[in-house]
Amino acid sequence: MNKLFLQHTYHVTRKAAVSILISVSVLRCVQVTMRRKLTLWARFCLVLALLPSQTVMSVDLGSEWMKVAIVKPGVPMEIALNKESRRKTPIAVCLKENERLFGDSALGVSVKNPKFVYRHLQSLLGKKHDNPQVAVYRKRFPEHHLVKDESRGTVLFSNSEEMQYSPEELLGMVLNYSRGLAQDFAEQPIKDAVITVPAFFNQAERRAVLQAAQMAGVKVLQLINDNMAVALNYGVFRRKDINSTAQNMMFYDMGSGSTTATIVTYQTVKTKESGSQPQLQIRGVGFDRSLGGFEMELRLRDHLAKLFNEQKKTKKDVRENHRAMSKLLKEAQRLKTVLSANAEFMAQVEGLLDDMDFKAKVTRVEFETLCADLFERVPGPVEEALSSAEMFLDEIEQVILVGGSTRVPKVQEVLLKAVGKEELGKNINADEAAAMGAVYQAAALSKAFKVKPFLVREATVFPIQVEFTREMEEEDGSRSLKHNKRILFQRMAPYPQRKVITFNRYTDDFAFYINYGDLILKH
Ligand SMILES: *[C@@H]1O[C@H](CO)[C@@H](O)[C@H](O)[C@H]1NC(C)=O
Ligand SMILES: *[C@@H]1O[C@H](CO)[C@@H](O)[C@H](O)[C@H]1NC(C)=O
Repeated sequence: MNKLFLQHTYHVTRKAAVSILISVSVLRCVQVTMRRKLTLWARFCLVLALLPSQTVMSVDLGSEWMKVAIVKPGVPMEIALNKESRRKTPIAVCLKENERLFGDSALGVSVKNPKFVYRHLQSLLGKKHDNPQVAVYRKRFPEHHLVKDESRGTVLFSNSEEMQYSPEELLGMVLNYSRGLAQDFAEQPIKDAVITVPAFFNQAERRAVLQAAQMAGVKVLQLINDNMAVALNYGVFRRKDINSTAQNMMFYDMGSGSTTATIVTYQTVKTKESGSQPQLQIRGVGFDRSLGGFEMELRLRDHLAKLFNEQKKTKKDVRENHRAMSKLLKEAQRLKTVLSANAEFMAQVEGLLDDMDFKAKVTRVEFETLCADLFERVPGPVEEALSSAEMFLDEIEQVILVGGSTRVPKVQEVLLKAVGKEELGKNINADEAAAMGAVYQAAALSKAFKVKPFLVREATVFPIQVEFTREMEEEDGSRSLKHNKRILFQRMAPYPQRKVITFNRYTDDFAFYINYGDLILKH
């Protein structure tokens, strides 16, 4: 899976030195740049514009929603409202005849015509056709016909011979749309963006997002891990609380498609150039790629389908009707939200199937029973984050909730028990922290702004390895090729960081590859 797109190949001629300095930032997707010193007069504003009309944007790309933020000269960082004046936009594209719709309008069509609406693209990005996640997608969205892309080995949505779209193309359309939203809101043209990706995204997945951005004509200043964006947002707005004593925080982020726990240390550090500066360092990351609110909604949908079938209002099985199932999914989503605040709720859909209305009571207890195995997985990322950081729970000052799905009461209950704290931190905007952290980073990377420095040290979620092939002489004198693989940076190695590798056995030109290594984990 990682090998789908080899990202960095280096051709080295013998004449060149045999020692090569590799800095982790060669992986542009994970690059983090530190900022320069800030002059005194900018002390009280986080971001200061240097050039006029150079608005930059961020897109927090989730599996179900995106949030767009902008920073524009003279205006503080802010979330860009969409056409419906909402702060978040569903990631959905409707392609029907000559019609192209996005966001809420596209989602509106999905209830009547699910076949033309493409959603949850994140799980398909950069995946080969035989990847298990493709099979999961097929099962979840049976209305779509996924075929193999013969040239790349990935998948295509196929409506007909002429209408075939790759997940990357569709995401490109979404990114172009997001830029349109940002431009309309800023009333300025925008080209540069920082885009979030889940921390667990591998090389092929990151590459796919970059391709999508390229198709949209969006210049990616950086792909930032979403947990880093959240941690940055938290730190930037709490500079005053950061001192020379290290404080360890855990962010627990459960979104629609996945869950990530991240341990971050905040403290001030002395720098040569600019004295004492706040710094954040990612210490540990744990994740569950398939634990999230969407799976809960699917369970509720299937429960509603079962209830409808049991009511025997028609002879048909509602589960075989894509349109009816789409309506039930929409109702299941409402149900999940309402059950977060209420103990029971009457689900209802008019004219669900054969003009029959559907109505059924669902309680929170029933919901929790349907998802019992999911709630059991809530502590998993916490444990993994702790073990990757080699830390214990009592070293963590606070566990802070991020992501819409942490609103489910049972998630909070199980998490609170697992972390043994008095309470969970709710002092961050769970929906918008990543978009805001990413737009701060966009300003930091753009030449048009100066930002108050905040030092960041990322950690490599994947090991980074070098691969090369060498001709070897066997005992019997014959020659054979030996493939070598060496880990350059271990999992959780901090970066930016440099490392020297020496190739001294080559007598001729050669090439080597820098790749993400494999990650062998439970999930
Ligand atoms: C990108 O979006 C703009 C509207 O913001 C639209 O005019 C343009 O056609 C779109 N480009 C592509 C390639 O879809
Ligand atoms: C650092 O800040 C924390 C709380 O923000 C406080 O408890 C601690 O005493 C401070 N340490 C120093 C050395 O000022």
